[in-house]
Amino acid sequence: MSFKDKIDLSRLPQHVAVIMDGNGRWARAQGKERTFGHENGVNAVKETVEAAAEIGVKFLTLYAFSTENWNRPRTEIDALMELLVSTINSERETLMKNGIKLDVIGDFDALPPKCMTELNEAMTHTANNDRMTMVVALSYSSRWEIVRAARLLGADIKAGKVNPETINEEMFGSYLCTKHMPDPELLIRTSGETRISNFLLWQIAYAELYFTPTLWPDFKREDFYEAIVSYQNRERRFGMVSEQLNK
Ligand code: FPP
Repeated sequence: MSFKDKIDLSRLPQHVAVIMDGNGRWARAQGKERTFGHENGVNAVKETVEAAAEIGVKFLTLYAFSTENWNRPRTEIDALMELLVSTINSERETLMKNGIKLDVIGDFDALPPKCMTELNEAMTHTANNDRMTMVVALSYSSRWEIVRAARLLGADIKAGKVNPETINEEMFGSYLCTKHMPDPELLIRTSGETRISNFLLWQIAYAELYFTPTLWPDFKREDFYEAIVSYQNRERRFGMVSEQLNK
């Protein structure tokens, strides 16, 4: 029986977030440049997007480039930016055909203008698709996002638009880049690392974490479905006890 067959479609996570890791190690293991790993990582992106859309996941967030990744060698950064834009461009019609909307979160000011123009075009083009939203986290880090939210909120307080007494979790969340999305219920990280690496720290407060040793370029549809099955086999208690949930 495949993992896909074991999935209970009535209990799917609405939002799955993925830390795609291991491209460099995958390439090095074959005596190739790190960028070869990123190029092959694109296949895993396609597999994952298709797998998620097929079963009815509504939001899929992929961590494509962190603010810390700007410290990588210039040649790798340029290759990654090029790959991101060319992949999104070449997959635009597949996104349309499958009803997938593209969204991007991150520090856009840090991105090359050409990259931003192309991404904006793709976002506009796919804006009315409603089967699934593929969110690409680009030049993103969670601490950057939270500090930005605090700054925006501070400005609204200063302008008299917000009374500090009214600030609560929901309201603070509306200042984050993810304001239009539910929090991820499942976070997947590949490559055997068991860190969060500054990704969606606020939003994963109650997410189930799933770590797999598979390197990202080797990650296939069935690997994604295995993660969903693992998620469905867990008991999500939200601070309560089992007896309260099973009443
Ligand atoms: C992590 O592997 C991967 C990345 C930093 C980039 C992921 C980007 C892609 C797969 C490009 C296409 C993406 C989209 C959304 C179109 P790593 O380089 O950190 O690997 P390592 O830990 O083995 O060094």
